[in-house]
This record gives sequence, structure tokens and C-alpha cells, in this order.
Amino acid sequence: MKVVVLGAAGMLGSALCKHMAQRHDVIGIARQNGPYVSHHCDLLDPDLNPLLDKIGADVCVNAAALTNLQTCHRQVDKAYKLHISLSALLAQRNERQIYISTDSVFDGFSPPSNGYSETCAPSPLNVYALTKLMGEAPVLNNDGVVLRTNIYGFNLTRPGNSLFEWIADTLAKGKPLIGYQDMIFNPVSIFQLSDAIEIVMMKDLRGRINIGCEEQLSKADFLLKTIAHLRPGYVDVSIVDAPEGEIIRPKSTVLDTRYAKTLGLPTMDIDEGIAQVATLLKGVS
Ligand SMILES: NC(=O)c1ccc[n+]([C@@H]2O[C@H](COP(=O)([O-])OP(=O)(O)OC[C@H]3O[C@@H](n4cnc5c(N)ncnc54)[C@H](OP(=O)(O)O)[C@@H]3O)[C@@H](O)[C@H]2O)c1
Repeated sequence: MKVVVLGAAGMLGSALCKHMAQRHDVIGIARQNGPYVSHHCDLLDPDLNPLLDKIGADVCVNAAALTNLQTCHRQVDKAYKLHISLSALLAQRNERQIYISTDSVFDGFSPPSNGYSETCAPSPLNVYALTKLMGEAPVLNNDGVVLRTNIYGFNLTRPGNSLFEWIADTLAKGKPLIGYQDMIFNPVSIFQLSDAIEIVMMKDLRGRINIGCEEQLSKADFLLKTIAHLRPGYVDVSIVDAPEGEIIRPKSTVLDTRYAKTLGLPTMDIDEGIAQVATLLKGVS
């Protein structure tokens, strides 16, 4: 299949391009360089539409976003344009749309025991979450796919500020680490999500689908599991509740993955995901 990936130099975009390129014709669009970036373009630029016409892909995976919550808060107009206007433009096109959304569309105040299902009412707490949620609507209204998820990994093409790299860097410097025990989620690795995106594409699935790992874990648990792979025995770790910050973030964003399983998506394991990312990160650093 011919697949265009928007945000191809990002953390997910770069892993997805690498994964998809094994079996598909992948065309990456991004502002920055990357091994799968064939076209440099600001996605808010009017040149995007003619470029996509020229490419003529079957599927468009939109993995571009303003993932810095503070930037979204300070540049609402930019977040609006990238998450909502771009999504509306893409939804009018012929390519099948796969929009990567987020688990943070929920407020986390009283999460269901199995996590939020695809039919639970969202209630975003910040500009990032609100604009990502609003970007879902045009995709769903035009028979596309919205994948709600939370991801971890690192950018395969350049050093970045991912959670994983921050943990590795702090461990390397021998500094103290802090894990939040009251923030609960069920994230997947960029590799597990890339696999799921390919399955969604090949099965021609439509609508809103949650992608998460089987286990519900705290950010502190995630930290400890990651440390166990990167630096077993490291003890300079404090487990605390998350402090209130300038940006309000939901505390529990676990996604119910039962619907995804009925669609034939694989079960995803947190330990396998972390092990794979940690092994690769150790290999490149
Ligand atoms: N990371 C997470 O924890 C997480 C959790 C849930 C959902 N998600 C979703 O997963 C998807 C991928 O996230 P990620 O973590 O891979 O983010 P990322 O590494 O920040 O990648 C996003 C990419 O979007 C690009 N982009 C932003 N504005 C652009 C513009 N105007 N023109 C062209 N490119 C632009 C960025 O390019 P530049 O590098 O040039 O700025 C960046 O490479 C996003 O949809 C995000 O909302 C992420």
C-alpha cells in the first residue's frame, strides 16, 4: 500500500515509517530531516494539499502534533490549526485517514475499573487534549480511524526529550529520579503502536479504537520497570504524588482495550514493550 506519514521525523512517525517500509511504499512528510522524510513541508502551509495530490497515497497517518502541553497552552492558535484545521483538511481528501489521538481526552476523575472505553464521554482538561479531541471529529465524520493511545519510546532519528531518554540521561548522571504514584495509564511502545497501525490499515478498520497495554500501571511503576532494564539496582528514586503544575493533567487515563481485541488487535505487554525500547536505546547510546 502507498502510505503517507505526517510528522515522519517525530518519535512515533520515525518508528512507524521504519516499520511500514518493510512491506509498504512509505512517503514521509516533515519539517526536519529523517531517513523516511521524502518531502519537507510545514503542515500548516497551503502547499500541503497539492503535495498530497501529487503523492496520491491510499492511506494517510497523521502522527504530527504539538506534544508540548505548555506550547499548546501558550500558542492556542497553533494548536487549533495543527490539531483541528489540518484534520478537517485531511478528512476531505481521498486518502483513508488514521489520526493518532490521546488518552488525555479524559479528565481522570472517576475512571471505570476497566479504563475508559471508546464510548465514554471525554472531558479534556487542557488545550492539548481539547484540540486533539476536536481533531477527531472530522476524521470520524469522514469514515476515518481515530486511535486513542499513550506512547513511550524515543526518536530513532535524533536525540530528543522523551520520558525514556530523560530517565536514561538522569541515570547516566547518577541524579535522583521521581516517580508519580497517582498517575495511572496503560501506554504502548512506539513499536507496538506501529504494529497496531499496520493491522488497522490492513484490516480496513474504521472509527474510534483504543490502543493500550494490558496492565494498568502508575508512572512510578513505569519508571521502576524502565530502571530495571536500564540500570538494575539503582536506588535513588522517590515515589510521590504528582505536584500541581501550570497545566492541569488528568491523573488516570487508562483506556479500555476490549473493543480493540474484538477487532483482532494483539494484546500488548508492558514488560515486552519496555524491554524492546530499553534494548534499542542502550544500543544507540
Ligand atoms: N508522546 C506521547 O506521550 C503521546 C501520547 C499520546 C498521544 N500522542 C500522539 O502521538 C502522535 C505522535 O506523537 P510523538 O510523541 O511522536 O510526537 P513528536 O515526537 O513531538 O512528533 C510530532 C511531530 O509533529 C511535527 N509537527 C508539529 N507541527 C508541525 C508542522 N506545523 N508542520 C510539520 N510538522 C509538524 C513535529 O515536527 P518538528 O520536529 O519539526 O517540530 C514532530 O516531529 C501525536 O499525534 C500525539 O498527539 C503522543
